[in-house]
Amino acid sequence: GTCALLGAPIETGASQRGCIMGPASLRTAGLAEGLAGLGWEVSDRGDVSIAPQASQPHANPALHHLAETSAWIAALHAAAYDAGAACDLPIFMGGDHSMAAGTVPAMARRAQEAGRPLFVLWLDAHPDLHTLETSESGNLHGTPVAYFTGQPGCDAYPTLPATVDPANICMMGIRSVDAAEQVRIRELGVEVHDMRAIDETGVLEPLRRFLDRVREANGMLHVSFDVDFLDPAIAPAVGTTVPGGATFREAHLIMETLCDSELVSSLDLVELNPFLDERGKTAKLMCDLTASLFGRRVMDRMTRSAY
Ligand code: ARG
Ligand code: MN
Ligand code: MN
Ligand code: MN
Repeated sequence: GTCALLGAPIETGASQRGCIMGPASLRTAGLAEGLAGLGWEVSDRGDVSIAPQASQPHANPALHHLAETSAWIAALHAAAYDAGAACDLPIFMGGDHSMAAGTVPAMARRAQEAGRPLFVLWLDAHPDLHTLETSESGNLHGTPVAYFTGQPGCDAYPTLPATVDPANICMMGIRSVDAAEQVRIRELGVEVHDMRAIDETGVLEPLRRFLDRVREANGMLHVSFDVDFLDPAIAPAVGTTVPGGATFREAHLIMETLCDSELVSSLDLVELNPFLDERGKTAKLMCDLTASLFGRRVMDRMTRSAY
């Protein structure tokens, strides 16, 4: 198959600087070479950029970098849409998680044009379900899911051409939820497998049930992978570490299972902050996990698993 890499060096949605170096770090760790070695035809479309923005006031005084984030959303939407049209499986290299406010709606628009629903697998310690009105930190990486599901309170962002149905979202790894997000999860009925649930069932059972739903609906599947989904011991290069994250083995099993499903149509790799990394270890892990999604396996197998 064909894979396009697109860099989204945005860091203004996070509380600390450094995610601007994320795409460069993933390239340095050999993301493209690893996928090419698995037989993929990989093209690198370079990095998206925005022009300098005048500041944009908002009723929520905590918000910062609103104008830049809106500009990134618009620029990424266009570039992600084109990358999606140009290959089988685009990888959007972040960049903080506010970039998903550009990439996910672009994939929703592609799905809509194909007459298929878009499903989103959200691998993260956080649900990122704040509106611009309820964010207390003012860090806009906490807002993409509210935006792309079309919640009121995000009107300062660009107008959405297509939204994602909250019923088509599955969140795994969640272990840090603010009060307003908790209320919104219940109201919208978003499927959330928090860390307690994963400890009880393992990752496979809920993942397989979700993949069954995607398949039955003939859906497209976008995977949004936040580095802080992983345990900080194996993935230190992120500004919002939360203890008790996914293990190396759980994360690889998820990626291998996604590979077997053949349902994934786009991928975000977000929140990598190379300034916080230890000799590239987190960047290399993200590349290895991506390779598992693209077909690398320890042993040849006679058959694929049921997924
Ligand atoms: N809920 C917190 C906030 O709004 C944390 C968000 C973390 N998001 C992320 N993409 N790392 O500030
Ligand atoms: Mn700032
Ligand atoms: Mn996130
Ligand atoms: Mn997170």
